[in-house]
Amino acid sequence: MSRSGKVTVVGAGFYGSTTALRLAEYDLFETVVLTDIVEGKPEGLALDINQSRSIENFETKVIGATTTADGGGYEKTANSDVVVITAGLPRKPGMSRMDLIGINAGIVRGVAENIAKHSPNAVVIVVSNPLDEMTALAQIATKFSYNKVMGQAGMLDTARFTNFVAEKCGVAISAVKTLTLGSHGETMVPVPSRCTVSGNVLTDVLSADEIKDLVDRTRNGGAEIVALLKTGSAYYAPSAAAARMAKAVITNSNEVMPVCAWVNGEYGISGVYLGVEAQIGKQGVTKVVESNLTTEELTSLKAAAEAVRTKQADVKNL
Ligand code: LAC
Repeated sequence: MSRSGKVTVVGAGFYGSTTALRLAEYDLFETVVLTDIVEGKPEGLALDINQSRSIENFETKVIGATTTADGGGYEKTANSDVVVITAGLPRKPGMSRMDLIGINAGIVRGVAENIAKHSPNAVVIVVSNPLDEMTALAQIATKFSYNKVMGQAGMLDTARFTNFVAEKCGVAISAVKTLTLGSHGETMVPVPSRCTVSGNVLTDVLSADEIKDLVDRTRNGGAEIVALLKTGSAYYAPSAAAARMAKAVITNSNEVMPVCAWVNGEYGISGVYLGVEAQIGKQGVTKVVESNLTTEELTSLKAAAEAVRTKQADVKNL
């Protein structure tokens, strides 16, 4: 099997280190670089992951790099094909993702500038919160074209929705298809009209009240886990989603996935980063894919666009 390319994961917290592990275990990349500002942590985790290679049978080499705010250590990330930015603080119980905007904006801006300097051709996948705003900020700070910068949220929210529907209906995960669009926050738009259970539309399988409960639980999916963990936020499902996006880029798969992408006219919405379905390949987002939505779903998507547009305008100055 031939391996190619380099992916950097910025931030060696649970989200970042689990993403690095998943990417290494795919055995697709030549190199996975894991960075952090905590001295020795990324190097230690890289060593640990590399020592699992003979057990899990992968050859991808993981490199740890301690970085500094002024750009020290970033030379090890040079010429990455894909960069996953997980840097920033997670929520504490009771906090909304938006409560992190001030602190995380400074962190993400600095990271994005350093990444742009060392990996000018990379596709950037942002996962830091508040997601839609940090994705917009990363595009501004890298000055990369819009298609080269995207955010991870829809894959995760959709996976949560799928899990809840499968459990509620007592069917296999593989029997369920769901979709969420909109923001990774209050204005998330789970799309029941695009959900099926064993090929049947969700509205024929569950009552309106049952669907509403699952939609609400999906919208609060991250907060439910934060409240249980008490310190830190979710990382197993989030890292699975981010790693799959990086895989779609490096394999140029052109898979259609729900991601946070720059929208330019689709659904009658323009000039904003928003959760939509998009085709992902070597150049990042190669196409935003529109689907038929009900009038109510389209209204919610437009409301989500306006909500994030205001906040995204603010991040320019953060
Ligand atoms: C969540 C965080 C990672 O939704 O945004 O769990």
